Amino acid sequence: MKEIESVLFSEEVIEKKCCELGERISRDFDGEVLVVGILKGAVPFMSELVKRIELPIRMDFMDVSSYEGSVSTGKIKILKDVENDVRDKDVIIVEDIIDTGNTLSYLSELFKLRGAKSVTICSLLTKPSRREKEVEVKYIGFEIEDYFVVGYGMDYNEKYRNLPYIGILSEKVYK
Ligand code: IMP
Ligand code: MG
Repeated sequence: MKEIESVLFSEEVIEKKCCELGERISRDFDGEVLVVGILKGAVPFMSELVKRIELPIRMDFMDVSSYEGSVSTGKIKILKDVENDVRDKDVIIVEDIIDTGNTLSYLSELFKLRGAKSVTICSLLTKPSRREKEVEVKYIGFEIEDYFVVGYGMDYNEKYRNLPYIGILSEKVYK
């Protein structure tokens, strides 16, 4: 696609990583786990990942957005909440990418306050150089530099989520 400057991770490489992560999760937990995907970006990653987890998991979803406006507060608004009661559950939050860390630090606190037995984060990508809030991420697909990436769930203005690979968006698209 001409809007993509270069491909960072091919579909094959991502699928291989999902197998590795799924195997680790299967080893690290036993019994029921509640896997919570953050809409919409986590959907392709979560679909691939859960197929590789050999545990009786439940799947749930949550949709959140950062408060918009001139002052960036790092506050998160819940657009859609999970349907499951998280009390006494092992929760794995699945996310596409961790940037500032605001979203995931808020969500892990929230699930802990709701009485989850454990809260573990699994993110396909992380951009450590952008971090504002410390978050402990147990399962990471790939670490990247501060590029704006799209594909495999990630978007620019709601587009490119369907690409089967992760690529760097050409600056021409947003400049
Ligand atoms: P955080 O709260 O700053 O960690 O926000 C993470 C969210 O920002 C992700 O779930 C994405 O929706 C979005 N995001 C951050 N970096 C990128 C990127 O490079 N491409 C697409 N979305 C991104
Ligand atoms: Mg997101």
